[in-house]
Amino acid sequence: RNFLQFLGRATLITIFGGSGVFYFLSQKNKNPGAQLPFDPEKKTLVVLGSGWGATSLLTTLDTTDYNVVVISPKNFFLFTPLLPSVAVGTLNPRSIIQPTRYITRHKARAVSVIEAEASDVDPINKTVSFIDNSEIKGATSSTTIKYDYLVYAVGAEVQTFNIPGVKEHAVFMKELADAERMQREFMDCLETAAFPGQSPEEIDRLLHMVVVGGGPTGVELSGELHDFLEDDLKSWYPELAGRIKISLVEAMPSVLPMFSKQLIQYTESTFKESKIDILTKTMVKEVKEKAVVLQMPDKSIVEVPCGMVVWAAGNKNRQITQDLISKLPAEQTNRRGIDVDDHLRMKGAEGIFAIGDCTATSYAPTAQVASQQGAYLARVLQQLAKKDALAANLQTLEAEKVEEVGEEAQQRKNKLEREIKLAQSQIAKVNPRPFQYSHQGSLAYIGSDRAIADLPFMNGNVATAGVATYLFWRSAYLSTLFSLRNRTLVATDWLKVKLFGRDVSRE
Ligand code: FAD
Ligand code: NAI
Repeated sequence: RNFLQFLGRATLITIFGGSGVFYFLSQKNKNPGAQLPFDPEKKTLVVLGSGWGATSLLTTLDTTDYNVVVISPKNFFLFTPLLPSVAVGTLNPRSIIQPTRYITRHKARAVSVIEAEASDVDPINKTVSFIDNSEIKGATSSTTIKYDYLVYAVGAEVQTFNIPGVKEHAVFMKELADAERMQREFMDCLETAAFPGQSPEEIDRLLHMVVVGGGPTGVELSGELHDFLEDDLKSWYPELAGRIKISLVEAMPSVLPMFSKQLIQYTESTFKESKIDILTKTMVKEVKEKAVVLQMPDKSIVEVPCGMVVWAAGNKNRQITQDLISKLPAEQTNRRGIDVDDHLRMKGAEGIFAIGDCTATSYAPTAQVASQQGAYLARVLQQLAKKDALAANLQTLEAEKVEEVGEEAQQRKNKLEREIKLAQSQIAKVNPRPFQYSHQGSLAYIGSDRAIADLPFMNGNVATAGVATYLFWRSAYLSTLFSLRNRTLVATDWLKVKLFGRDVSRE
């Protein structure tokens, strides 16, 4: 009995204590305090983008050192790894975004957040031009500002290879709006297939979903679509669910080339069980309104009717990045993206750092790389601020020439020389280390409550797959989310789906 009483008390203390801490943390987040104003003495640091690289930088950066200006067409951060879950309604779109101001308002010095698209970077005059591309515009909707340092983190856009019909008829899986659009189109296909009098051929066409690209985005999305079908559509569309077909088209000989061989095989066999068709060595040549044109492994061309095409065929540079590269033809010779040195400085451009998917490095274009680069750069910028302050001090000392003669003047001169030497040696000591990427492993969800993971272990690699890996995948992403708010929203969405299933209404 005593033990039960103890257990009861411990449970109550945990519940009330936990709720108290949760309430305290949420209120602390909700009510940011006063911030230092911009200081004309400080240098201007402009950050382009609000994605993985920029957000990681902003989270780590000590803003007392700079006047920071963030420019991005989206006034929020998007947690891309969970985007496919939004596309099938497992997660609410708002659960995986974090307004940038929720981060910047907690910084010591105020940060200016501007919702605008950078249209031009002038690396010679050190300026950025930007425009307000949103629907509502004020009297001023474009301007140019100067920077001392620029963090270029604009990411990449979807690669279409200029394949006809992709832009017009396919759905992308890159932005929040893409996932919302996919959900609408998918439900539209289902409701249209349910329209009375639809021919069997038309029903089969409408219910054929083609995912292009066997990289992690295409695989995760196919897995999520399968879950939606199994967990929900079978209940609410019993007459149609059995006819839904998912095809994953990949030009290369296998899907997920970045994962270990056994994980590729595991994914392929899971997809086979899930009745997801994987078409490898098959290339999409055209996307039509009601079909995809495929080049099959034997080079024959086949037109396959379908209701929806999701395009997840990789990244390419944004126009602004191409323009910036072409301004420095001698130093920027890599067409894949911005060429940076091992301190992430853009080659040939003084004061510009580039991070994430817009760069051409030996690293894969992943969130992991971009966020580590952002955090590294925040530390480098802190050191640079220190170096700049020491250099300014040195300049003042050097300007203090001692002209008079005499013993007292000589003493002052000697003291000044000692101070100059000290400042010089302090400057020399501020020497940021090069960026070093630390790979934490690769994880992907493949549907049916299973995930795959390649995890680094003692200079080697451990490949794991299955339901336990799926639980690991969930907890890893839950802990990687940037805020308590996002973690709460995502966990609540998962619980809601477990209890009530996914919503099948079409907005
Ligand atoms: P982004 O995060 O794309 O951010 C770019 C920012 O720049 C955005 O805020 C954008 O609005 C802004 N911007 C665009 N144009 C301009 C402009 N002209 N001026 C100013 N700002 C501009 N990686 C992983 O490691 N693990 C995963 O599980 C994973 N899952 C993914 C799932 C999906 C569906 C996708 C699409 C990607 C996934 N990735 C994953 C890859 C990861 O999202 C990218 O590598 C990462 O977003 C790159 O970060 P970034 O900061 O370079 O670019
Ligand atoms: P990706 O570049 O990894 O894969 C695109 C695939 O599309 C390639 O395999 C390519 O061969 C194929 N393809 C291109 N054109 C085609 C065509 N016409 N017909 C058929 N197939 C075609 O792109 P993805 O998946 O969008 O990933 C982008 C980056 O984001 C990668 O670096 C990836 O590692 C990362 N990412 C990581 C995730 C994770 O770790 N779980 C999840 C999603 C993305």
